[in-house]
Amino acid sequence: MKAIFLATVFLASAVIAAGVTGTAFGMATGTTGGGDATPAAPSDLALLETWLSDDTARVILIDKTFDFTSSLGTTTSAGCYQVCDVYNGGQDYIGTLSCSGSTMTAVSSITYNAAGASPLLVNSNKSIVGVGSAGIIQGRGLRIYSASNFIIQNVHVYNINPQYVWGGDAITIQDADMVWIDHCKFSLIGRQMIVSGYAPAGHVTISNCEFDGRTYWSATCNSQHYWTLLLIGSKDFYTFSGNYLHHLSGRAPHYGISTSGATNIFHAVNNYFENMSGHAFDIEANTWSLIEGNVFSNVTTPMTAPSTTKSNAIFDVPSGTESACTSILGRACVANSLLSGSGALTGVENTEALTQLAAVGASRIVAVTAVSGVAASVKASAGIGKL
Ligand SMILES: *[C@@H]1O[C@H](CO)[C@@H](O)[C@H](O)[C@H]1NC(C)=O
Ligand SMILES: *[C@@H]1O[C@H](CO)[C@@H](O)[C@H](O)[C@H]1NC(C)=O
Ligand SMILES: *[C@@H]1O[C@H](CO)[C@@H](O)[C@H](O)[C@H]1NC(C)=O
Repeated sequence: MKAIFLATVFLASAVIAAGVTGTAFGMATGTTGGGDATPAAPSDLALLETWLSDDTARVILIDKTFDFTSSLGTTTSAGCYQVCDVYNGGQDYIGTLSCSGSTMTAVSSITYNAAGASPLLVNSNKSIVGVGSAGIIQGRGLRIYSASNFIIQNVHVYNINPQYVWGGDAITIQDADMVWIDHCKFSLIGRQMIVSGYAPAGHVTISNCEFDGRTYWSATCNSQHYWTLLLIGSKDFYTFSGNYLHHLSGRAPHYGISTSGATNIFHAVNNYFENMSGHAFDIEANTWSLIEGNVFSNVTTPMTAPSTTKSNAIFDVPSGTESACTSILGRACVANSLLSGSGALTGVENTEALTQLAAVGASRIVAVTAVSGVAASVKASAGIGKL
């Protein structure tokens, strides 16, 4: 018994010492975060906040739940109840911005946890790594602001004022570059699970993450979270790969912005979308998208209709066009798969999307695998505790 126990402890510490598993790939290739700084676990909330924001390269271990929910007290502001309010499965709004229309009722006072609306600031050269399946940051998100070279891996960001729209985002990427978000999980978030500001988010890879939209408080009144990914930076490059998105009703993902001069190159590859009563892709102008090898199972709207009418270029590999990629990307693309219960994915084959993607450089374009294995492999590996 004793020998087995000691062996287990030894293995656990070997895992801790390893820090980040694997290497950033896709658009975020070259991102090293805290590099080879000695991994260390902060003892409390205050030390985690300091380590995230200071000028030292760090590998920060999240070895337990860091619960910020009540750490900054509460705030009260005006707001509005929507037609299905929080007591009836809806999500109410902080502030009166969205209060117009017959489905909204202005109210003078909504009380929420202040920490949710005040994300932790993250400086450059940081890795945040969850240990085993213990890594949870609760009640407060992270904001990479005027910073670069950031890795977050194997962490669950959880329970940020989920009753309230504008109650807080899980990860904000604003005026940044070189960001790798890998094997994370997001659930019960007030606003966006991942959001950019209007400034460049830069080169970002979002891989092997679980976006779990099950909620008691739904802006769309259907037990599903609407605010998933809103990526509207002015010069952005995304690899979105191997993610598991389920029970979401919108913006899963939404990217691009109509502002003149903005550019967003988006490679969505081998993701699995399941049981979504709403939309997955919602694509704005000034974007170049390759959407390949994804599987949609029981997803009402794989891509919104307006996505194909904007001034953008989409290549979503309609069946029979796979080989159109070969001369531009050096390999064939893989068609997406629509399983039972899914609406149609409008086929678009604008090869300008491929040309722009190729211009980013072959080393930032990830390989694609056959769709037949995607559902099983994504379910097995996306989220936390899977490394
Ligand atoms: C991050 O690392 C780079 C490269 O070593 C360095 O130039 C920069 O000053 C660092 N930034 C901070 C905030 O430590
Ligand atoms: C999706 O719905 C089906 C049918 O209700 C169910 O079997 C499956 O487990 C659901 N998926 C998730 C992630 O809950
Ligand atoms: C489809 O997804 C919905 C949730 O969006 C779920 O209630 C339903 O059971 C799913 N149906 C099937 C056949 O998977």
